[in-house]
Amino acid sequence: MRLLPLHFLAVLAACSFSGEPTEDITIAYKVLEVYPQSRWVLITCYSPEAPRPITYSLMASRGVLVATRVVRDDKPASFNINITLKSSPDLLTYSCRASSDLGTYGPSSWLQMYWELWTKPVSQLQADFTLRDGNSGPTAELSCLASSGSPPIIYRLVGNDGRIHAQQRPLHGKPANFSIPLSQTFGWFRCEAANGVSVESSASVLLPPGELPLTPTCILAGSLVSIAAISYGMLRSTR
Ligand SMILES: *[C@@H]1O[C@H](CO)[C@@H](O)[C@H](O)[C@H]1NC(C)=O
Ligand SMILES: *[C@@H]1O[C@H](CO)[C@@H](O)[C@H](O)[C@H]1NC(C)=O
Repeated sequence: MRLLPLHFLAVLAACSFSGEPTEDITIAYKVLEVYPQSRWVLITCYSPEAPRPITYSLMASRGVLVATRVVRDDKPASFNINITLKSSPDLLTYSCRASSDLGTYGPSSWLQMYWELWTKPVSQLQADFTLRDGNSGPTAELSCLASSGSPPIIYRLVGNDGRIHAQQRPLHGKPANFSIPLSQTFGWFRCEAANGVSVESSASVLLPPGELPLTPTCILAGSLVSIAAISYGMLRSTR
């Protein structure tokens, strides 16, 4: 396991915007589509207190103005942008500002898109099993979601022997759903979430519940977390 290279942290600290971030305006993002070298992202800026109309500006690092939006209702401003992997992480830092009749707001906190989109390990994997009695007999539905980690995240249904029974790549932020027919299957199953940076496994669950396990020693399978590899993106950052 490796920690973030020191120079990467130094770059984050060196990002400069005029003014300290304020709480009166927030910035958030959602990944809409994943391309090999870029991500299509929705960035939202929101200042609930400011009187309308309000003009929002999305700023990139070094004070570059990306776009502006005038909002007359109570909704956040939406910016759809295609963010391309750049060798210099500090070029992928975004912040919101706003202005209305009563004054100016911001800058918001800084969104480090290089980190968010290319180098953030998968974490907070949640796996939920539900038993159902369908037409084709009893099934176990497994829903898996890692609520944090750079896209794309691939989810795998893994048996105790390490065999991959199925895999899915849902839209970023959506869970993978696996269906396991219990009439044909039994044993221990777990969900694994992987991106280019790390792999995380859920605890193993015995299916159907109450059956005698084939290999009782595997009770120890438990929850394992491993940082598997350093992403392509992070390697690029060391150039
Ligand atoms: C974003 O960029 C990719 C290429 O990197 C392109 O294929 C895609 O159409 C672009 N998406 C939008 C919405 O502009
Ligand atoms: C799994 O189910 C959820 C909730 O119904 C849905 O939002 C999600 O897109 C599904 N995932 C896949 C890969 O179909």
